Amino acid sequence: MACADGDDSEGPAYAGRVPEFPYARLRRFPDVEAPNLQAWDATDELLVARALTLAAERGIDGAAIAVIGDGYGALTLPLVAAGFDGVRVHQELVTGRRALERNAVALAASGFAAHELDAELLRGARLVLLQLPKGLAELEEVADAVARWAAPDVVLVAGGRVKHMTLAQNEVLAGLFGHVQPQRAERKSRLIIATEALPVPADPPFPVSAAHPEYGLTLCAHGGAFAGDRIDIGTRVLLDVMRERAAELGALTRRDGFTAVDLGCGTGALAASLALALDAEQGTAARPDARIIATDRSAAAVRSARATMVANGVADRVTVTLDDAGSGIPDGSVDLVLLNPPFHLGASVHEGAGRRLIDAAARMLRPGGEVWTVFNSHLDHRRALAAAVGETERLVRTPKFTVTRSVRR
Ligand SMILES: C[S@@+](CC[C@H](N)C(=O)[O-])C[C@H]1O[C@@H](n2cnc3c(N)ncnc32)[C@H](O)[C@@H]1O
Repeated sequence: MACADGDDSEGPAYAGRVPEFPYARLRRFPDVEAPNLQAWDATDELLVARALTLAAERGIDGAAIAVIGDGYGALTLPLVAAGFDGVRVHQELVTGRRALERNAVALAASGFAAHELDAELLRGARLVLLQLPKGLAELEEVADAVARWAAPDVVLVAGGRVKHMTLAQNEVLAGLFGHVQPQRAERKSRLIIATEALPVPADPPFPVSAAHPEYGLTLCAHGGAFAGDRIDIGTRVLLDVMRERAAELGALTRRDGFTAVDLGCGTGALAASLALALDAEQGTAARPDARIIATDRSAAAVRSARATMVANGVADRVTVTLDDAGSGIPDGSVDLVLLNPPFHLGASVHEGAGRRLIDAAARMLRPGGEVWTVFNSHLDHRRALAAAVGETERLVRTPKFTVTRSVRR
């Protein structure tokens, strides 16, 4: 990067001011795009402004900066544009990773490196910028990672929209940093500055795991995974239907070259349960050609699902992939999709995310293949499934959840 040694005569051009950055050119694509969904927010701008000031004050160069939770590049790319080289970035979602890459190409920006949430991301980092995650478990995993692997004098600058922030976030940070200082709110966003990293236990706090004997399953979860190590109530409704209709499911699984996809697998409850059911019914040895793929766009989900497959003894027959809507799965190649689609998109409720997975299921199913879907009963997914996939039958409707079976036309 440009020099950041605090020497005025040679000092970096960014010192003391925020360079103009064309935020409006950032796109969310391939994530869902809609008029009410934007690729950056005021928190990104505040975080970058504070980073520039701190870097100038403390002589921190790009190689000592890590960014965590960048949505689509609105943290990383302004830093690159300000002359910081070697910034490391971790993004939880593969959609965000792809968007950052595309935005970087569009803005001809380079000189940053993508990492998982691990020691490589944080080793030697003296400044960490964080878009606060929604969940406290995810925040705890990130804050632990920073305290564990970053430089002892690291400054963690976390930011969020005031309406989504809670005192519990300060408490989580205070469990890992000796000094936690919330800042004055600006433009409906607030920064929290955490310093004096505390010693951490030898073992990281995640993944956590829990046994669910009622389903014969053990779930493992990293901080950012949907529902943690619990089984979500919607997932339970689908698992119950799979159990009650084992014979119908069995007819599908006996097809030659049977391939199933747990689309948006989270911690992998549906895929693990299907693998165990297949074992129980037919024996693994009898079905060497059967394939189960569990796929999610969240890195925490993928790490969790891999751990879940190991914990349930099915890691050799379930392949877990990090992908956007199963984009790597060939068209017309799948017999069964199990789907519990998301219905919250970030903080705004948007059906687009669920529709995207419905379209993906339609794309990957063979004619005669089936998608079994659970969704909140107030959503109009049955119509969407019928339009995208084919004939859609309601299998169960509880006051909150509906389970449908759609057959690919
Ligand atoms: C409601 S959760 C269901 C998780 C799991 N199947 C279960 O039942 O516990 C929805 C999951 O879909 C994932 N997801 C959302 N959009 C996705 C996309 N475009 N591609 C892949 N996964 C996606 C989320 O990360 C989340 O793990």
